[in-house]
Amino acid sequence: MKEIHNFTITERRQHGAQYFSLVLQHAGCMQPVVPGQFVEVLVEGCREVMLRRPISVHDVDEKAGTMTLLIQIVGNGTRQLNTLKVGDSLNVVYPLGHGFSVEAAGQQPLLVGGGAGIAPLLHLAKVLASKGIKPTVLLGGRTASLIPVQDEFLPYANVLVATDDGTLGHHGIVTTHPAFAQNYSMIYTCGPTPMMKAVARSAAERGIRCEVSLENMMACGVGACLCCVTDIDQGHRCVCKDGPVFDIAAMKKWYLQ
Ligand SMILES: Cc1cc2nc3c(=O)[nH]c(=O)nc-3n(C[C@H](O)[C@H](O)[C@H](O)COP(=O)(O)OP(=O)(O)OC[C@H]3O[C@@H](n4cnc5c(N)ncnc54)[C@H](O)[C@@H]3O)c2cc1C
Ligand code: FES
Repeated sequence: MKEIHNFTITERRQHGAQYFSLVLQHAGCMQPVVPGQFVEVLVEGCREVMLRRPISVHDVDEKAGTMTLLIQIVGNGTRQLNTLKVGDSLNVVYPLGHGFSVEAAGQQPLLVGGGAGIAPLLHLAKVLASKGIKPTVLLGGRTASLIPVQDEFLPYANVLVATDDGTLGHHGIVTTHPAFAQNYSMIYTCGPTPMMKAVARSAAERGIRCEVSLENMMACGVGACLCCVTDIDQGHRCVCKDGPVFDIAAMKKWYLQ
């Protein structure tokens, strides 16, 4: 069930110049969050930002009643969120959208993340690990400093990195990493659209089930304004309500474009 709640920020971490994370404490009992679901954050104190901003749930600690958001600073809203301090409160609508199909993972899933698309994959890796599955996580970025939080995955996954400039891990984009060509039971991906389309095309060619998490621009976040609509094989769908996670079996038109 969706809830609007004022969380308290209990921790703030900086990850290089572009990324930061906020640990949010719920005052009561937190709603369960499926990996891949997101929140809509109210940005206060900035006249230019009227709409809430969609941010994936990066991590959940059910016992502690906390969730963590990993945020890339790209514009006014995320810049304003970067001014929040420990003790401040953050108004959040959650949990939103349709998350990853955890039950479809099989024994050898691959998680491919690029840029801020890395965010939802930590929660997914942790949930898979809690079911005795150790996924392979492949993280991509332009350069080493733009691969945040790779160490956070280490307890739950085999972690591989690819950078366009070769400053960390494999030199090249994620789909050219030798490990990408191996056989997997399932592929989950979130990141820039060209990266996800390349991952989806390869998965389809190899007959591997694959889910993509789209990051379309959003406003209401609940299927009312239609500003996030995307075209899938069966017609138009709201990314905020019907996604953000979609199975590529219904996305041929999208990934072949
Ligand atoms: C379901 C979902 C989950 C997301 N999860 C995360 C997350 O976990 N961490 C994170 O850092 N970001 C995430 N994003 C992207 C995030 O919502 C945007 O970066 C943010 O809204 C930008 O707000 P702003 O006011 O700072 O930038 P704006 O001033 O609104 O825009 C600045 C620049 O960013 C571009 N931009 C804005 N929104 C998006 C978007 N959705 N996708 C691509 N480019 C965009 C604009 O075109 C513009 O060039 C997610 C988006 C969606 C839809
Ligand atoms: S953001 Fe309003 S319908 Fe999706």
